[in-house]
Amino acid sequence: MKPLNIGLIGYGFMGRTHTNGYKRVNDFFPELKHRPILKAVCGRNEEKVKEFADQWQYESTESDWRDLIARDDIDAVDICTPNNSHAEIAIAAAKAGKMILCEKPLALNPAEGEKMVEAIEKAGVANTVWYNYRRVPAVTMAKQLIDEGRLGRVFHYRANFLQDWTINEDLPQGGAALWRLDAAAAGSGVTGDLLAHCIDTAIWLNGSIKDVTAMTETFVKERMHNETGKKEPVTIDDACAFLCHFQNGSLGLFESTRYARGHKALYTFEINGENASIRWDLHDLHRLEYFDHNDEGKLRGWRSIHISDHDGSQPYMDKWWVPGLNIGYEHTFVHQVADFIKSIETGETMRPSFRDALETQRVCDAVLKSAASHTWKNV
Ligand SMILES: NC(=O)c1ccc[n+]([C@@H]2O[C@H](COP(=O)([O-])OP(=O)(O)OC[C@H]3O[C@@H](n4cnc5c(N)ncnc54)[C@H](O)[C@@H]3O)[C@@H](O)[C@H]2O)c1
Repeated sequence: MKPLNIGLIGYGFMGRTHTNGYKRVNDFFPELKHRPILKAVCGRNEEKVKEFADQWQYESTESDWRDLIARDDIDAVDICTPNNSHAEIAIAAAKAGKMILCEKPLALNPAEGEKMVEAIEKAGVANTVWYNYRRVPAVTMAKQLIDEGRLGRVFHYRANFLQDWTINEDLPQGGAALWRLDAAAAGSGVTGDLLAHCIDTAIWLNGSIKDVTAMTETFVKERMHNETGKKEPVTIDDACAFLCHFQNGSLGLFESTRYARGHKALYTFEINGENASIRWDLHDLHRLEYFDHNDEGKLRGWRSIHISDHDGSQPYMDKWWVPGLNIGYEHTFVHQVADFIKSIETGETMRPSFRDALETQRVCDAVLKSAASHTWKNV
């Protein structure tokens, strides 16, 4: 077993999901020849980062990401910080010759994303962006069904990502906890945070997006800012809906909001082809709904396929428990770590790569520009 020394930067929500992935991957993917070693975790607050290191068993800590990147004993840098720091860290890590796993969205905007792609491609380092929903077994299986040509010509792609946690207008913006509500840290609101996931999955399943027309809304116009202590204008999009044309001629319809009372993280998509349709829902993530028009007429209807079989036909599931038992959200990160290590071992390009994530970033940018200008925008 060869060590793969991980340097984690940022130890919030994603820092935990990724660390869990590194810890569990070899137990469930015994064929891998590399073992992630939790070499160092970096955070700005020394006391808190030490607490995290103790709890999750990192060997050491750093309080400046530059010191972590400068270390010879780090092979791979994992960027789990807010979006406005991804570019600077990734470019420095690439120059230092580190492999890079970066959280999504890739960057604040395409200009930053292009510099990142240039830096990692020049350095020739292994890279991936954590669009983890590609590795929900049901979503991976949707990709397989589409690649097998079962849908025929695709007419429609529809996706939603709905939440309700910012309805309260007394919720502040900015700072450590609420950076997502501040465009200076996040780049945008639901477009970069939630729709970016929907767009990544859509491009993967249905190909590139050609052009878009969008509307955004900011329902609460001012919020107290945690850093200034004053009421400041809200600079993010609270909600976004857009229409698009895919290169394959199909039509897309996307919606995201943090104002859909009752929904916490409802990511759904549906694809309608001439022969079959596919539907998926994050709240029931182990099921794939499938309708096949070629079924015998009297039995034709939506099937709800429980993705848990072990005969190799249902992706990833033979790695886990016994047929019939579910896995969940955290497993998507274990799968991404496993696939990243496999890509290092086989030399195959890991997807989604930085370049893939740049395409998503360009769609997000076109969406925001379309909403601002009330016009169609080419991607
Ligand atoms: N793949 C997914 O489904 C998913 C889900 C949530 C978040 N994300 C992405 O992950 C990233 C982090 O989000 P999160 O929810 O974990 O945020 P979080 O606020 O929970 O954690 C961010 C961490 O970064 C640290 N940090 C901030 N600036 C830093 C700096 N300069 N140096 C070192 N550490 C710094 C913070 O202290 C904190 O530990 C974002 O890019 C976000 O868009 C992706």
